[in-house]
Amino acid sequence: MMNENAKTGVTKKTQYVVSNWKMNGTVALLNEAIAIWQKAASHVNWIFCPSATLISYTKTHFPDVILGGQNCSAKTSGAFTGDISADQLVDVGGTYVIVGHSECRQNHHDTNADVAAKAVAAQQAGLIPIICIGESEATYIAGQTLAYLKQQVDESLVSVQGEFLLAYEPIWAIGTGKTATLDDIAGVHSFLREQLPTTPLLYGGSVSADNARAILAVDNVDGVLVGGASLKVADFRTILTSADKNVG
Ligand code: PGA
Repeated sequence: MMNENAKTGVTKKTQYVVSNWKMNGTVALLNEAIAIWQKAASHVNWIFCPSATLISYTKTHFPDVILGGQNCSAKTSGAFTGDISADQLVDVGGTYVIVGHSECRQNHHDTNADVAAKAVAAQQAGLIPIICIGESEATYIAGQTLAYLKQQVDESLVSVQGEFLLAYEPIWAIGTGKTATLDDIAGVHSFLREQLPTTPLLYGGSVSADNARAILAVDNVDGVLVGGASLKVADFRTILTSADKNVG
């Protein structure tokens, strides 16, 4: 997505950096990461998704930080031990929520229909869902990536009507150090852009201090969803700085 800078007339990209801390992180690390963000990135849309246990603390101490949950229930309340509703995320200061992450699809058996239901529940609560899709290594090797993603998009977006972000995260690239090639990312993102002309499109999967700048420069990449590297403060700083350079 492009923005024209009113003063310079220069058209640059909107850049999102989503930190997905997964089941990691402490108050001490959070204080360090936020100090880095406060110094490093003036224009990047940083969305911080720590464990739910850290959201309320963050909002209280750093009200400017935009926060997201890592998952939510499709239900609004009830006897669902261990689950968190979208309303509860809103209650502690959440603005976004990741749904359909491959770890939830794999470990919790979330189907595309479940992901769509969670995204709709999130929107009804006033959250903006960050909907994740991505193919397995076998699908990638078989050359079936686009067909697979098309089905995931169609089924994971059923009844999703308001604002959302879409993150392309090849499963084989998550936490493995193997990143999709820039050509692969460009191909997938241009395919997704045809279907979703105005949706911010993120890439995720082993984004690092070394590759973030090149990935963020790919056409139709509006930001990155970062796991492991977002927990390393020096790498996080570099990724934010890389994104900031592209912002209009
Ligand atoms: P990674 O994780 O950056 O550690 O590969 C990304 C993600 O799972 O969102």
